[in-house]
Amino acid sequence: MDNRPIGVFDSGLGGLTGVRELRKLLPGEDIIYFGDTGRVPYGPRGKDTIIQYTRQDIAFLLSKNVKYIMAACGTVSSTYPPQEAKQLPVPFCGVVGATARAATYATQNRRVGVMGTPATIRSGSYEVLLRQLIPGVEITKQACPMLVPLVENGYIQDGNPVAMLLLEEYLAPMQKAQVDTLILGCTHYPLLKGMISKIMGPNVSLIDPGKVTAEALKRDLSEKGLLAKRTQGQAQYYVSDDPDGFISVADLFLGEYRGGPVKQIAIEKY
Ligand code: DGL
Repeated sequence: MDNRPIGVFDSGLGGLTGVRELRKLLPGEDIIYFGDTGRVPYGPRGKDTIIQYTRQDIAFLLSKNVKYIMAACGTVSSTYPPQEAKQLPVPFCGVVGATARAATYATQNRRVGVMGTPATIRSGSYEVLLRQLIPGVEITKQACPMLVPLVENGYIQDGNPVAMLLLEEYLAPMQKAQVDTLILGCTHYPLLKGMISKIMGPNVSLIDPGKVTAEALKRDLSEKGLLAKRTQGQAQYYVSDDPDGFISVADLFLGEYRGGPVKQIAIEKY
């Protein structure tokens, strides 16, 4: 048993897709969320910059005495060196492993699509795992640099014409390749799930990294004896830019759960 909070971070709002699942699956856990809204997006940046930002994000969460860190970010998970993660004083998980495994169970025709930020697609992280897990898999990948800014600016309502136009463009190769499983390889993309599903059709399984990673994290906490012993936990949110934009979109997204207080911090000091 461990009543310390779980630390979750992302470059911005995307990690809330993980927080929402954690709140459902583990209502007794306290959560500290950090969204690096002052430096979002991470995806078009170089590897060294992403690693430097990640180190600061982790240092901030460690300063809050978290018991576990979840990088609810496909870009960080694809870039932060695993050997460095192993040296951290608390367990760390990214989203790539659980997401690739979920795609393995979902696909019937072994045609899998991967959407992600430019850094994630460049890293080949999903591809490497999928090739290990699914013999003969055909992978169609697509970098979608415009989608994170779209979500951060609140273009997430179903049928939004700007979002639909971009998604139709990005998803055309997936439709052509007849994928039956599509990895939403960035935690921002599930905020656009309704529109993605409308374009891809009901027979394509959409894999939500925040959701499947929250499930994996629950199992890991239980195996490690780290589950909290209380019925109702709290969530606290931190951002690195003015909280106003975050609050309005977070409320829109988190829906029934309206989150907790949002504070601004100076992440470059960590
Ligand atoms: N949610 C992040 C991810 O999963 C977005 C990265 C970005 O800021 O570009 O990749």
